[in-house]
Amino acid sequence: MGSAGRGSAPTGGAGPVSVGKTNHFVTFVATLAAVGGFLFGYDTGVISGVVVLVKSQWHLSSSMQEIVVSAVLIGAIIGAAVAGKLADHHGRRKVIIAAAVVFFVGSIGTGLSPSIEWLIAGRVVIGVAIGFASCVVPLYISEIAPPEHRGKLVSLNQLAITIGILGSYGIDRAFADVENGWRYMFFFGVIPALLLGIGMLFVPETPRWLVRRGLVDRARAVLVRAVGPSKADAELATLQAAMATGQSGSLRELLVPWLRPALIIGVGLMFFQQFTGINTVIYYAPTIFEMAGFDSASAAISATVIVGVVNVLFTVVSLWLIDRAGRKPLLYVGLAGMTLSLTVLGVAFAAQASLGALAKWVAVGSLMAYVAAFAISLGPIAWLIMSEIYPTNVRGTAMGIATLSNWAFNFIVAMTFLSLIDGLGRPGAFLLYAALGVAGLVFTRLYVPETKGVTLEHIEAHWRAGGRPIDLGRKPAL
Ligand code: BGC
Repeated sequence: MGSAGRGSAPTGGAGPVSVGKTNHFVTFVATLAAVGGFLFGYDTGVISGVVVLVKSQWHLSSSMQEIVVSAVLIGAIIGAAVAGKLADHHGRRKVIIAAAVVFFVGSIGTGLSPSIEWLIAGRVVIGVAIGFASCVVPLYISEIAPPEHRGKLVSLNQLAITIGILGSYGIDRAFADVENGWRYMFFFGVIPALLLGIGMLFVPETPRWLVRRGLVDRARAVLVRAVGPSKADAELATLQAAMATGQSGSLRELLVPWLRPALIIGVGLMFFQQFTGINTVIYYAPTIFEMAGFDSASAAISATVIVGVVNVLFTVVSLWLIDRAGRKPLLYVGLAGMTLSLTVLGVAFAAQASLGALAKWVAVGSLMAYVAAFAISLGPIAWLIMSEIYPTNVRGTAMGIATLSNWAFNFIVAMTFLSLIDGLGRPGAFLLYAALGVAGLVFTRLYVPETKGVTLEHIEAHWRAGGRPIDLGRKPAL
C-alpha cells in the first residue's frame, strides 16, 4: 500500500512524499476555486424547488417539466466539451472567471424569465457554466496543490458541490411559499458567482500552466508561495524537465498509446460514478421515498434533506481519509457499500407487500447508507483521479473528455431512470445499479491507480515508461 510513510522526497521529486501541514495560501486559493463547485451543486439542486412552482404557474406538462430539469445537463455537456481546450489555451484561472460570469448572467437571466422558453434557454446557459467549473476547478486545484495534500484540496470541490446541493434545498424551502419565489431561488446564485469571479481576479494562475507558457518567473513566484522558497527552485526544475518532453495538447496527441490507460481510467471512473445511480437519488429522492410508502410529499422532501446532510457529512469524512488511507481503499469500501445498500433497496421493493410499513424505513436506511458510501468514494475520487492522471500539456483537453463523459452519462441515467423502473420494475432497476457497482469494484481492482502522495510529474513519467496503472504509487520512483 501507500506511500506516506515511505518517503520524504522533496515535492519536486519523483516518488511519494510525506504528509506535512497544509499551506494557508494554497488552502485559500483552493477554497476560493471550490466556490465553483458550490455553484455546480446549487444549480443542480435548485431546480427541484423551481419546477414545483413554475409547473403550476405556467401549467407545464410532465414532458415540459422534464425538459426544464434536464436542460442544464445539455448545457453542461456543451461547456465540458470546450472547457478543457479553453483552459489549455487561455489558462485555468481565466476559464474559472468565465464560468463565474456565465453563472452570474445565467442566474439573473433565469430569475427574470418572461416565458418558459426563456427559462429553458437560461438553464442551458447555466449548464455551460457548470460544465466549465466541473472540469477546470479540479484542474486548477490539482496543479497548485502540493502532492501530499492534493487529495483533500481537490476534494474541497466535491465538498462544495454537496454543500451547494444542500444549500439549494434550504433556499428552495425558504422561498417555496413566496409569490414568484422561484425567481429568488435563481437570483440567489448571483452571490456565489460574484464571490468566485471577483476572488479569482486576485489569485494566480497555476505554476504548471505558467511554465508551459514559458512564464518561468511568474511560475517561480507562485511556487514560492505554494511550497516555500526553499523548495521552489527544485520544484520549478522538475516542472520544466517534465514540460520539455511535452506535447502541444491536440486531440490527436491524446491518442498516443502510452496515454490510453489514463483515458480509459478517466472515462471509466465517470461511467461508474454515474451508472451506479447517484443522480436517481439526487434528482428523484422524493419520488423514491413516495414509491417506498411515504404518503405525504413533505415527509418525502424532509427525508431528501437528510440525504443531503449525509452527503455533506460523509464527504468531510472522505476528505479526512483521502490522503491518509489513499484513493483505492476508499473506492473499495465505498463501492462495496453502494452495492450492498442498492441490493437491500431492491430487495425491499421486491418484498414491499410483505414488509408493509417497514419497507419505507428500509428504503430510507439503505438510501442513506448508499449516499454515505458514494460520498466517501466515487463522489470525490472520480473528479480527483481525473485531475491527477494526465500530463500537463494535455491535462485540460483530457479532463475535458472525462468531464464531458460524466455529463453525458449523467444525462443518460436521468433520462432513463423512470422508464427503467417501468421496464424492469423497482427491484430490477436498483439491482441493475448494484450489478454495475460490482463491475466498478472489478474496474477499480484492475485499472485504478493509487495516486496518494505521488507527484503529477511522476504519474506522467510512469505512463511514458509504459507502466501499468495498478503499479503506480506501489513501486519505488522510476
Ligand atoms: C457528481 C454529481 C452528483 C454529486 C452528488 C458529484 O460528484 O458528479 O453527478 O450529483 O456528486 O453529490
